[in-house]
Amino acid sequence: MRIDIITVLPELLKSPFEASILNRAIEANLVEVYFHNLRDYTTDNYKSVDDKQFGGGAGMVMTIEPIDKCITALKKERVYDEVIYMTPDGETLKQGLANKLSLKKNIIILCGHYKGVDQRVRDYFITREISIGDYVLSGGELGAAVLCDAIIRLIPGVLGNETSALTDSFQDNLLAPPIYTKPREYKGMKVPELLFSGNLPEIEKWREEQAYKRTKERRPDLLNE
Ligand code: ADE
Repeated sequence: MRIDIITVLPELLKSPFEASILNRAIEANLVEVYFHNLRDYTTDNYKSVDDKQFGGGAGMVMTIEPIDKCITALKKERVYDEVIYMTPDGETLKQGLANKLSLKKNIIILCGHYKGVDQRVRDYFITREISIGDYVLSGGELGAAVLCDAIIRLIPGVLGNETSALTDSFQDNLLAPPIYTKPREYKGMKVPELLFSGNLPEIEKWREEQAYKRTKERRPDLLNE
């Protein structure tokens, strides 16, 4: 998989990809991630990528030309499955969408800034708009990092144990059950006895019950999806 991220703040985006699972995935060539500074695509002497809104109104708008230049240059090199725009009014990111995107070959992610982009960018270049939640961030970069993390960990081979992504919370619309490790007892706090029984079918049944109970208590909305 290849991900091209278009941003005015590449330095803000880079560090999540330089550590842990994302970095390992890149090092193992399971994913390629490239950052494109939008200012490299402007012809403006001041390298500006935004302007005042037509019709008046507070806040600057990202202009179409540098975005067009950047996306067109990328599309000349390869075919893209999706051109995603990170925006609070997009489709809310859920596990199902991350699963779907993890199967794509090439995707572009455009990070919004200021008030957002000229509507024509959305109308003519963008295939999908994604929000990471009902709150407004200062820009799309942190959202893009969240989206990339959710996608990249699902690529086969990225997680050591492939089943671990399948048993994450939200796969099957259930939250994950409680988990325990050593010590068996800590300051009087005990691990459920069943987990030492060696009875794998019973343990699995307990985990399923716990996952259901937790989901019912915390996120009953998931059970109706
Ligand atoms: N840009 C600003 N807020 C955002 C959000 N909630 N999700 C994605 N991109 C954003």
